[in-house]
Amino acid sequence: MKIIVRLAEMKDLLQIVGVVREVFFHDCCFDEEFNVHEAEYLFSRAIEDKNELLAVATIIDGDIEKIVGFVFYQNKPPTNGEIYLNMIGVARAYQGLGIGLRLLIEGDNLAVKYFRDVRRCRIATIHLSTSKDNPVGQKLYLKGGYEVRGEIIGMVGAGNVEVQMIKDIDHSVQYRQGLWNDVTLQANNTD
Ligand SMILES: CC(C)(COP(=O)(O)OP(=O)(O)OC[C@H]1O[C@@H](n2cnc3c(N)ncnc32)[C@H](O)[C@@H]1OP(=O)(O)O)[C@@H](O)C(=O)NCCC(=O)NCCS
Repeated sequence: MKIIVRLAEMKDLLQIVGVVREVFFHDCCFDEEFNVHEAEYLFSRAIEDKNELLAVATIIDGDIEKIVGFVFYQNKPPTNGEIYLNMIGVARAYQGLGIGLRLLIEGDNLAVKYFRDVRRCRIATIHLSTSKDNPVGQKLYLKGGYEVRGEIIGMVGAGNVEVQMIKDIDHSVQYRQGLWNDVTLQANNTD
């Protein structure tokens, strides 16, 4: 099976929403009843917005290109040094075949190339948050080069623990120390 990972286009929208519906139907982002309009809005924005990137994994089924997975990144605000991996999913019938890992590795590379090299933003890390009760997700991210850096209790409701995972992209990008107690900066900001 030949898998291609490429940037998403508007013509892919319905197929992407189909995959999202299948794997995130129970997710808090889309309510208990999956909201197709919310999903179409979110992913059409992701295709058009210069500070977001949506990639898809495709296979050829007969003569038809079929979308079997997607990965969605945001770089907002674009100056903060960090890409956020918002969501990744592979259609159920294609899970466990290595598509998720390919999508993650190639998607990360596409995102870094785009936000850093095309949009000229400094990129130190890719960061994500995943539920502690999703061991398959955590395993995938560990294999894709992410490390666990912390946990947040109750982030999306009582009983939930979110695992914070980070992939380092560029160690030379430094956070500006003292940003929030720089007296000179505060004195100059008269607005
Ligand atoms: C997480 C997800 C994207 C992985 O995609 P995938 O194509 O199945 O991943 P891969 O085939 O590349 O497998 C990655 C690892 O996960 C394991 N894995 C995949 N599906 C599994 C399953 N149902 N049960 C146990 N392990 C599983 C694989 O065995 C592999 O580990 P291994 O190489 O040590 O065997 C996919 O399962 C999915 O869409 N899940 C629902 C949405 C989700 O949870 N997204 C992540 C959180 S936002």
